[in-house]
Amino acid sequence: MEKFVINGGKPLKGKVRISGAKNAAVAILPAVLLADSPCVIDNLPEISDVTAILKAMSYLGANVRTISKTSVEIDPTHVNSYIVTKEMTENMRASSYFLGALLGRLNRARVAPPGGCDFGVRPIDQHIKGFESLGAKVIIEGGMVDSRALRLSGSSIYLDVVSVGATINIMLAAVKAKGLTVIENAAREPHIVDLANFLNSMGANIMGAGTNVIKIRGVDSLKGTSYSIIPDQIEAGTYMVAAVATKGDVMIENVTPKHLESIIAKLIETGADITEYDEAVRVCMNTRPKKCNVKTMPHPGFPTDMQPQIATLLAIADGTSIITEGVWDSRFRYVDQLTLMGADIQVDGKMAVITGVQNLNPAPVRAVDLRAGAAMVIAGLMAKGTTEVEEIVHIDRGYENITEKLTALGADIKRVTVNPDLQKLRQA
Ligand code: EPU
Repeated sequence: MEKFVINGGKPLKGKVRISGAKNAAVAILPAVLLADSPCVIDNLPEISDVTAILKAMSYLGANVRTISKTSVEIDPTHVNSYIVTKEMTENMRASSYFLGALLGRLNRARVAPPGGCDFGVRPIDQHIKGFESLGAKVIIEGGMVDSRALRLSGSSIYLDVVSVGATINIMLAAVKAKGLTVIENAAREPHIVDLANFLNSMGANIMGAGTNVIKIRGVDSLKGTSYSIIPDQIEAGTYMVAAVATKGDVMIENVTPKHLESIIAKLIETGADITEYDEAVRVCMNTRPKKCNVKTMPHPGFPTDMQPQIATLLAIADGTSIITEGVWDSRFRYVDQLTLMGADIQVDGKMAVITGVQNLNPAPVRAVDLRAGAAMVIAGLMAKGTTEVEEIVHIDRGYENITEKLTALGADIKRVTVNPDLQKLRQA
């Protein structure tokens, strides 16, 4: 068990390089299972969610060869198992993508229901509706989602909610189905476009990714390819907020500024000075942030995965801000932790009213989930004195080398083992 010990109050200054996108990687890796020959995937983030997916792929029979820290070669030719247990995926959300990928490859998938961050109910009814529409039978038995088909056939699917996961899973299942599949009311996130580009580079025929109508004409086979994953929009946004929150000056490199538009717009409203370059953004701040209201929405709206981070910044804003969560039922569990640091936040259902205070105070806090954990790190960087953030295992799921990257920007943050005796016992 580890925690972060942060001595806050120092402005972040310098350059940080953003890693490959977690939510693209966790879709593209299972998609490799659809190929008939090896794929090389570059710009993979070094995070525990990626390690867990690669481990699961090895269990399924794929040959995974590490080329470098950010690059792997995966040969899926011998994959013939369709079972993915809870133990194999360590309870991550993206395990559901094995459903679409294995169904697409073997016409059969038996996968433990996805886990991941706890934002209240996380249904997969739209994924199931999509698979059934393509001709699969889906049942939930023995704690597993079991889907099978004789042959998948293209179909027209209207999503009742804009779901990233359902859009991706239907793309995975449909890419080798017979005929044309149309996904209407599809999600438009950058990682959906990245997955489509990856599949098309293997020989798929996918049109419209990035709009709300995606058309997939099934092909008989997909060949191996080399592909580099897009930069992580949320990691970039997190460092941008950290720069503003500490009144810093940070050049955030290896980003796609177009993916950051909603985040840039909101940070400018708070008073930040942001310059966009081809593959970088520079973020400077030298005053107390101004209040602003934020509503999270599917892309191109303000991302829900940036909600805890911007709430943390607005906790010290001049004035009262309102955050409305427009994607998840319950994503304010971290507010109690910020309150421990002196924030004044009232939550009512999907809305949080944040009355800005002058400063946050250091305190021992917990990372209640991945992005909430990132928000606690930002809070620790803002508060003068020593803040300890526990349960950082959540943060390691999605942020590569966060202590190293922040240290290079001038932060004082250390990863500390909480109980060495217990740790030794666990490793024995
Ligand atoms: N929903 C349904 N039925 C479904 C699927 C979703 O009602 O079958 C609802 C959900 O309850 C939610 C909304 O639709 O209210 C959106 O859920 P979505 O399916 O888009 O979320 P997801 O695919 O499970 C991905 C990201 C999340 C991110 C959301 C929204 C991955 C692995 N996860 O989750 O990322 O919050 O999209 O953008 O891509 C994170 O990275 O920290 C993270 C949680």
